[in-house]
This record gives sequence, C-alpha cells and structure tokens, in this order.
Amino acid sequence: MEKILEVEEIIRLLNEDFVGEIEATLIYVRNAFIMDRCDPSRVTGDIAIDEMRHMWWLADLIVKRGGKPRMEHKELDFGGDDLKSQLERQIALETEGIERYKQQIDAINDAEVVGVLKHILDEEKRHRKEFRMRLERINE
Ligand SMILES: [Fe+2]
Ligand SMILES: [Fe+2]
Repeated sequence: MEKILEVEEIIRLLNEDFVGEIEATLIYVRNAFIMDRCDPSRVTGDIAIDEMRHMWWLADLIVKRGGKPRMEHKELDFGGDDLKSQLERQIALETEGIERYKQQIDAINDAEVVGVLKHILDEEKRHRKEFRMRLERINE
C-alpha cells in the first residue's frame, strides 16, 4: 500500500475522525439520559467522555499540522428509543470507528498521528466490548 505523506490529506482524514467522534459523543450523551437502566446508562455516559477526549487528541494533531477542526456532524441516528436498539447502534458506531482507524494506521506515514490513532483504536475496541456485554445481558 502506498503511504500517505501529504499533510493536507492527513488533515482531511483526521477531520473525518473528528466528525465521527463528535457524532459518537452527542449520541452517547443523549442515550445515557434516555436509558432507564442504571448500568448501561452509566457506561454509555463514561464512554461519551472518552469520545470527547478523542476529539481533543485529534484537534491537537490537526492544529499542529496547520489545519482547523471541522465542527460539524451528520444527521444523528440515536438508534431509537429502546435499550437494545440503542446498544446495537452504539456497537455499530464503534465498529465504524475501528475500521476507519485501522485503515488509517496502515495508510498514514506520520509517527505521531499513528501513535495517537493506535491509542484511540484500543479504546474503541474496549468500548465495543463494554456495549456488547450490556447487549448480551438484555438478551439473557
Ligand atoms: Fe472515539
Ligand atoms: Fe468509542
């Protein structure tokens, strides 16, 4: 695979990640309030804070390379109003992020960026596991 060296292209990819993190933050904050079971609500709220930290890390990388963070997001899909469909939606969001970060880690040739993306990737994997555990408990 040809490595991405162009700084503009790296900024563009980091901004895609940034928008994904805004989306996850907003969806999880809302869902944490809607969920009436204490444990999934608390876990979703805690993970929303992780996603906001990812925004900070990405914004730092973007600004250091001369870019500006894109403060926008797509239309939000919260996954409906029941706990099961919300957890399924949250698992899908983590999977999207995991796939995006994996591809970028392979493609980008910038050690600092790759280091941060690997750290975020590990956290997204842990998030997906946490949400999957709560989904399994509902299905029991
Ligand atoms: Fe994240
Ligand atoms: Fe996550």
